[in-house]
Amino acid sequence: MKILFVCLGNICRSPMAEAILLHRLKASGLGDRITVDSAGTSAYHVGEPAHPDTVAVLKRHGIASIGRARQVRSLDFLEFDRIFAMDRMNMRDLLEMKGSDPSRVSLFLGEDVPDPYYGGPGGFEQVFEMLEKGCLDLLASLK
Ligand code: 4NP
Repeated sequence: MKILFVCLGNICRSPMAEAILLHRLKASGLGDRITVDSAGTSAYHVGEPAHPDTVAVLKRHGIASIGRARQVRSLDFLEFDRIFAMDRMNMRDLLEMKGSDPSRVSLFLGEDVPDPYYGGPGGFEQVFEMLEKGCLDLLASLK
């Protein structure tokens, strides 16, 4: 099972979801059976580590941040079983891509995860809590 989280920049929401889910998977002994990755619909921050406020909020919760930003690619629709978009714009962009497979793509929380990028550090904690709840629900369904 391979899971991909997707947001716009791949420095705030999707790397946060990736780190939270991986942390939870490891804690429940599923870390080697499920692959988790994240990507952005844009190329704005390709190669950059997660946003400092993403790193900080994860650290406060005892979770390490992972990886560097990359842009989503057509191959991801073949490689990943489940592709979770953070908001409706990400979802629409994914569905418009060449090679898109709508059967693998869904809105992660069934509602938009607000973009914390322009909202200041407080937004990151709110996003963390939303994503953590989503990851716990996903973990329960994976089990
Ligand atoms: P993310 O947040 O999609 O959650 O990573 C953003 C990061 C960067 C930008 C927008 C959203 N940006 O416009 O550079």
